[in-house]
Amino acid sequence: MTKRQILVTSALPYANGAIHLGHMVEHIQTDVWVRFQKMRGHECYYVCADDTHGTPIMLAAEKQGITPEQLIERVNTEHLADFSGFHIGYDNYYSTNSPENKAFSEQVYLALKANDKIASRTIEQLFDPEKNMFLPDRFVKGECPKCGAADQYGDNCEKCGATYSPTELKNPYSAVSGAKPVLKTSEHYFFRLGECTDFLKDWTGGSSLRGDGASQVHLQAESLNKMNEWIEGGLQDWDISRDAPYFGFEIPGAPGKYFYVWLDAPIGYMASFKNLCDRTGIDFDAWFKPDSKTEMYHFIGKDILYFHALFWPAMLKYAGYRAPSGVFAHGFLTVDGHKMSKSRGTFITAKSYLDCGLNPEWMRYYIAGKLNGRIEDIDLNLNDFVARVNSDVVGKFVNIASRAAGFISKRFGGQLAAKLEDETRLLGNIAGEAENIAAAYEAREYAKALREVMAIADIVNGYVDANKPWELAKQEGQDARLHEVCSVLINAFRLLTIYLKPVLPKLAEGVEAFLDVAPLQWADADQLLLGHTIKPYQHLMQRIDPLLVEKLIEANKQSMEAQAPAAAANYEPLADTIKIDDFARLDLRVGKVLACNFVDGSDKLLQFTVDLGFEQRNIFSGIRSAYQQPEALVGRKVIVVANLAERKMRFGVSQGMIVCASGPEDNSGLFLLDADDGAEPGMRIG
Ligand code: MSP
Ligand code: ZN
Repeated sequence: MTKRQILVTSALPYANGAIHLGHMVEHIQTDVWVRFQKMRGHECYYVCADDTHGTPIMLAAEKQGITPEQLIERVNTEHLADFSGFHIGYDNYYSTNSPENKAFSEQVYLALKANDKIASRTIEQLFDPEKNMFLPDRFVKGECPKCGAADQYGDNCEKCGATYSPTELKNPYSAVSGAKPVLKTSEHYFFRLGECTDFLKDWTGGSSLRGDGASQVHLQAESLNKMNEWIEGGLQDWDISRDAPYFGFEIPGAPGKYFYVWLDAPIGYMASFKNLCDRTGIDFDAWFKPDSKTEMYHFIGKDILYFHALFWPAMLKYAGYRAPSGVFAHGFLTVDGHKMSKSRGTFITAKSYLDCGLNPEWMRYYIAGKLNGRIEDIDLNLNDFVARVNSDVVGKFVNIASRAAGFISKRFGGQLAAKLEDETRLLGNIAGEAENIAAAYEAREYAKALREVMAIADIVNGYVDANKPWELAKQEGQDARLHEVCSVLINAFRLLTIYLKPVLPKLAEGVEAFLDVAPLQWADADQLLLGHTIKPYQHLMQRIDPLLVEKLIEANKQSMEAQAPAAAANYEPLADTIKIDDFARLDLRVGKVLACNFVDGSDKLLQFTVDLGFEQRNIFSGIRSAYQQPEALVGRKVIVVANLAERKMRFGVSQGMIVCASGPEDNSGLFLLDADDGAEPGMRIG
């Protein structure tokens, strides 16, 4: 068999969130494929990284009071722990905030520019005047221009589904500071994607030769249809720059301009691979030169096809590199038929799954059993999860070993029969399935592969029931027969292990230790294990206790409650419930500001003279930081707590309190409340 050279990637998870089971679907799908290719003897590398740049990560770090670098470093450790916990076997897991990625991003950009594929244009965008930053669509909120729903994002309405541009929102506000955004112009750089149309038509509908001469289409049929629609709709130039402040790489020759995160993210695949090459001596150029004979595949979710099937191949092509050999998109994970939901406890993080003591291979098996080569959403049904894993992996597969191994140890000193007389047909049939099953893995039809494996397991279990080793063991003169039957079973178990190993690598390791054999490769299905001494059997896998699944759901509900204050970091918890009488004890009145002045010797206070209609009050209020021009407040109708006990201060007596809105943070600002026109001093509020 020709040795193929294959580079494989999973999409780079954003560095501001925890890994959840949705991500895990993708990494399990990729990992199974990579493990399969490695077992076939191909030279295959699997690289990934955290996607670390962009506004959300910059703001998340700011909110946590740390630098973006600190945030992404912490998250990198967490992500890696989650993925290793699920036995995802990267050859390199890196970061897009790396020197390699900076160098490649600059170089790709400059090459595109030299190829006249970069344009610059001045555009108008919403700008947060308080935060001094341009606002990405998701950071502008307001009322939907179509249906009027409040608090909708700048790109689409979750109520009526309308899409629009952020400038169309009514009463827009910045989701960062709450300020009213203003329109501001700025120069942006664009990748002239429209000029790549001919190339993209060819590439999207085309195929590449694999290292073994077989042909591989670049896109799945569903993806190709989608891309054709987009191409026919006309490809727009793609805005690849963002203005400071931005966490990312500055564009060479353009101070204050940064690469948009989606420019350097896919380049992160190259950078992660380059980092691996430099450590291990792989020839990077041989893999990325335009006429490279190597293969490169990207596993991604259906939501990011546009980037991988249009932008990325075009960027590679016009920067002088090879294009991908294939983009493999998958659907989204739902749990019990619904989108993962935090309130239901079905937004399941990888960490919570591991922390609850669930075996990651249970999930690998279940997910793999649902995956195929198409873009279909897959559902994790939690009851089905327990039933399927217990019945297939434990009931059908592991049991084969446990039913045969004891006799081999106790009766035959652990040694398998040196020759198998009549049962080789069964084993021959099982070995004969190796290429069918391989073809299913190759085509990412894992559900099909596992169905075939379990069909074999059923036949083997039928063989156990027909030959009843436990009865042979009791019968006189049946030693040779017992030895043969049990040796056949151990061999069948070994073959099944080969077929399951891409999905269950840890379990397979346990089997290799039990059989006392070298790591199993696909070609090992050609031989039987004869006359070989195996180790005593130790239980290989527990059944799933359904209680663990309940615990998992609980844990994710709890973790959501625990996270609630963090997620809503700008809100204080609600005070205890009060009765209407409690409220009535508070006497709030409309007051008109007659005078307002700085207070000598205090950088916090303003001194107010307020008319309550029936009397005037002297009130000190600590809002100087928010109101630098006290005279401008004269004439405003404010709200005063009129029955507050007087308070003697260093500067005089304060006779009440002026009500202000404020957040929990020192920098969340202070906002005076006003009464509408018509309200008269002295009116009671309630
Ligand atoms: N950072 C980008 C990818 C850059 S690749 C150059 C990104 N990150 S992500 O964290 O939002 O998503 C990472 C991958 O997880 C994507 O392929 C996405 O489709 C996938 N999934 C996220 N939620 C998912 C499910 N619920 N189900 C299946 N896959 C899901 O996009
Ligand atoms: Zn709407």
